[in-house]
Amino acid sequence: MKALILAAGKGTRLKPLTNSTAKQVLPVANKPILFYVLDQIREAGITDIGIVVSPETNPWIKEVVGNGSKWEVEITYIIQPKPRGLAHAVKIAQHYLASSPFLMFLGDNLIKGGVKGFVEEFNTLNSDALILLKEVSDPRSFGVAEVDSSGKVVHLLEKPKKPKSNYAVVGVYLFTPEIHQAIAQIQPSWRGELEITDAIQKLLETGKEVRSHVLTGWWLDTANKHDLLEANRVLLDDYLKRDIKGTVDSQSQIVGQVEVRQRARIENSTIIGPASIAEDCRIHSSLVGPFTSIGANTILDNTSIKNSIILENCRIQKIKHISDSVIGRGTEVIKRERASKAVVLFVGNDTKVEI
Ligand code: DAU
Repeated sequence: MKALILAAGKGTRLKPLTNSTAKQVLPVANKPILFYVLDQIREAGITDIGIVVSPETNPWIKEVVGNGSKWEVEITYIIQPKPRGLAHAVKIAQHYLASSPFLMFLGDNLIKGGVKGFVEEFNTLNSDALILLKEVSDPRSFGVAEVDSSGKVVHLLEKPKKPKSNYAVVGVYLFTPEIHQAIAQIQPSWRGELEITDAIQKLLETGKEVRSHVLTGWWLDTANKHDLLEANRVLLDDYLKRDIKGTVDSQSQIVGQVEVRQRARIENSTIIGPASIAEDCRIHSSLVGPFTSIGANTILDNTSIKNSIILENCRIQKIKHISDSVIGRGTEVIKRERASKAVVLFVGNDTKVEI
């Protein structure tokens, strides 16, 4: 079996971060999203992995993921010139997939518990697809499935205005090569994309069996800032273990599940878990956490921050209450003592500042 990770697409709802990186490699709990995906694919025993990238995301993803040696897997990068839909991405990857069954994993999705069990289940089934579903209160922004009592899928529709069930399609799919014939028979949807949902519906219309599995653990789809912060909260809470490798002075306090990586220095500060402080940070006279990740080589001075993600090489000084924030690489946020009350900004494109 091969795996295909989809990591093209524009990441528009995560601008300005995605002006200079791909959303699939943004960090949650101080680890790129794609690393969780690759860990889970490797854990399922798959070592031949294709990653669909766009011309823009290609260098950013290659820089972070490399050739796969970190996971002892072989990675093939496949360029999708334009994001014309998930089924279009599979079409572009057809020469790579050849006649192999495959696991398709959307590079911005995270699920609890991994995919090993689903891969094993698929290998014992006589079906042409196995899809994962999650019951959600409002499924209108997802693919939506109707299933019978035995778990067979009977109908699928992408982003319906009036959903016929509460089962959202999760971005993890298992296919036999039959999916290629189905994709060849579908047309672009109202949003101009070749939808994988339509291709699976085509499998059903041509008499093929599609099975489903309803997820009970969490599923995270990291489409916007709110999702990214939620993913950070959930992963810190679920995965983080107390691990103090950096230095903590006697004026500081570390409470609960906190990671302080190599060479980070905690001085006269309190860190409340779950929280992750990456390598080479300096946290001085500050209060960090809970639910906060600080990227490598960032300096916090006289600052208090919770429920936030800060990327690498930032400097945050004298800001008393930062909350629910995502701060991109190399950013400075500094409170200056001056006579004038003016706010002084030098910010990039698509930035949002709330004062
Ligand atoms: O997250 C689950 C949902 O993902 C499913 O419920 C939907 O049925 C499915 O169509 C998909 O919907 P989205 O609209 O959320 O997909 P999005 O455009 O966010 O793309 C998902 C991933 O696939 C993302 O990592 C980018 C990548 N992608 C997307 C497109 C459109 C590609 O690699 N190529 C593409 O052409």
